[in-house]
Amino acid sequence: MRRVLIAGNWKLNKTASEAKAFARELLEKISGQEKAEILICPPTLFVESMVSDTKGTQVQIGAQNCFYEASGAYTGETSPAALADLGVPYVVIGHSERREYFHETDDDIAKKARAIFDAGMTPIICCGETLEQREQGIAKQWIAGQIKAALKELTDEEVAKAVIAYEPIWAIGTGRTASPADAEEICAEIRDVVYEVAGKDASDQTRILYGGSVKPDNVKEILAEANIDGALVGGASLEVDSYIGLLNGAE
Ligand code: PGA
Repeated sequence: MRRVLIAGNWKLNKTASEAKAFARELLEKISGQEKAEILICPPTLFVESMVSDTKGTQVQIGAQNCFYEASGAYTGETSPAALADLGVPYVVIGHSERREYFHETDDDIAKKARAIFDAGMTPIICCGETLEQREQGIAKQWIAGQIKAALKELTDEEVAKAVIAYEPIWAIGTGRTASPADAEEICAEIRDVVYEVAGKDASDQTRILYGGSVKPDNVKEILAEANIDGALVGGASLEVDSYIGLLNGAE
């Protein structure tokens, strides 16, 4: 069984005190054992304090990015080892904003996936097409290329543990969600690619998330799709009540 993962991607939002207040309120409001796996990815600066504020609870704190080298002369970067040492379980890589604004390539993302497993964590590997690519009818082949490139340094067992997030670029932060059927079509294609590169066990186990304007009122129908195992959520993960709405949708 693939457990539903509701991953909040805060992007560049909140201050340290706001992050602290969020953690406190979330812990007050979540009930018992939630069915879904809970993950919040704050800006790197607040990862350590949020890990400590949520220690021993079902709330997990992830990172939005890291570098692929373990140490060295790489000013401004964060190493996988440093995140793993804090107890971070997941790192998002290959988000379309990082590909676009920070010029990350498929090759960088493959190296990061490798380095994240080497440090004992799990990558959440993002992929997605532009509106233009969708209109040209090349979305599936574009995404297959991104996924094959990102997985190329991993063993089949690692692919099975990896999380893949399908985020059509035209649906991110726009209020325009892919229809559940459109999202499912691409997520099913991603599972076929996983089958092709890493075999049946991996394709049965790899979790595939959908992201792009997921909200409490549309999460349920998205998660009802056979090949969608969770959501990567930006805007709707910034407020506790909204994040809890997402968890409720996963019940
Ligand atoms: P959004 O962002 O939910 O605000 O559309 C999703 C993401 O970019 O991860």
